Amino acid sequence: MSLISGCEDVSSEKSFYENADKYWKGVTPTVNGMLGGYSHINSVDIQESKKFLSPYLLGPNAKVGRTRALDCGAGIGRISKQFLLHSFDTVDLLEQNKAFLEEAKTFLGVQSAKRVGEFICSGMQDVILKDDHYDVIWIQWVTGHLTDEHFANFLKKCQRSLKRNGLIIIKENISSESVEWDETDSSVTRSYDDITAIFKKADLRIVQEKHQTNFPVEIYRVFIFALCPNQPVK
Ligand SMILES: C[S@@+](CC[C@H](N)C(=O)[O-])C[C@H]1O[C@@H](n2cnc3c(N)ncnc32)[C@H](O)[C@@H]1O
Repeated sequence: MSLISGCEDVSSEKSFYENADKYWKGVTPTVNGMLGGYSHINSVDIQESKKFLSPYLLGPNAKVGRTRALDCGAGIGRISKQFLLHSFDTVDLLEQNKAFLEEAKTFLGVQSAKRVGEFICSGMQDVILKDDHYDVIWIQWVTGHLTDEHFANFLKKCQRSLKRNGLIIIKENISSESVEWDETDSSVTRSYDDITAIFKKADLRIVQEKHQTNFPVEIYRVFIFALCPNQPVK
């Protein structure tokens, strides 16, 4: 059975993770580094993310709490600094690269860094999350670094870690047809059908999805998905 459905290029789990780790260790801890040289898309990305989440947090039909969020594959905290820390009392950062988390402490600024609950230095494939802990779990531009099984398992862990009415948000590149392999950073880009099959496997329901607009035409399409458990989590 393949580690990533439709992708024959990933045959060893060990080298898939090791090569990604090696790649990120060579990346400068800046916004430009986090965005693969596309720092100019930073503000449009953040604006659209805020617009997507805000009806769930504010206004008459808002049901999602604003106590605690988790930023997954957080890098230096680009999303936490510009968005999540403005919307939640506390944000935890989950990131495998120690140097990025160290940089985050400076990048976030002293006041914001004080509202980071935990800097969790771990791969998403290995992490243990606390039950009933987060209102929102934000996962952006990192799921291509997980095998199908680890991706589905991580989403199951996220479900258990959500508070009542909580949401998992996935913002990710989507390929137009089949899975595409990137040897440079050891990642895959899944198609819409492939990624949604993993949501289904993890027993998650799509509450809302949106295609990110105003991104350069030469990059992958980016979708934002809001997901919640199909069944109430015990
Ligand atoms: C493209 S960057 C995105 C960073 C951040 N989400 C953002 O949008 O600014 C991908 C990040 O995922 C991290 N990463 C890669 N594989 C990971 C894994 N298995 N577990 C946790 N983080 C991972 C990298 O170290 C890097 O910081």
